[in-house]
Amino acid sequence: MFDALGLAREDGAGRIAQMMKNWDSFGAPVQLFTYCPKYMGPPQWSDMGMWLQTVMILLREEGLDSCAQEIWAMYGTYMRELLNIDNEHIFFCGMAIGYRDADAPINNFDVPRTPTHDVIRWEGW
Ligand SMILES: Cc1cc2nc3c(=O)[nH]c(=O)nc-3n(C[C@H](O)[C@H](O)[C@H](O)COP(=O)(O)O)c2cc1C
Repeated sequence: MFDALGLAREDGAGRIAQMMKNWDSFGAPVQLFTYCPKYMGPPQWSDMGMWLQTVMILLREEGLDSCAQEIWAMYGTYMRELLNIDNEHIFFCGMAIGYRDADAPINNFDVPRTPTHDVIRWEGW
């Protein structure tokens, strides 16, 4: 990603500036925040991950784009305060929603995909 943006490894300020765009939702007009009761554990967190992915797919169906933003959870305590979420809940994740700039370099670089056989252990096939 940083390569596509022309940000060298040594360009700490440039990389931080890119990271800071998270706090502006990358210019998206809508920001979705998710949180859940604290008693829910990793199984339910994975459910929420699936729910977020479903939302992202449905957004595509409507011609919208999104970027899941786990970064907001870095400040989970502050986010709960900001969003008036009580102490019985845990802040989970954010998601910027809008229309991508199809010409922006950030939206135009190849992401190599790990081959299936590297991430799935096939037994008895
Ligand atoms: C759960 C999750 C959390 C993410 N959090 C962030 C984030 O905080 N900031 C960010 O810039 N991108 C975040 N991303 C986006 C990824 O960096 C990446 O741009 C996005 O998943 C698109 O990847 P793709 O090229 O595989 O489609 C997140 C993605 C996922 C799935």
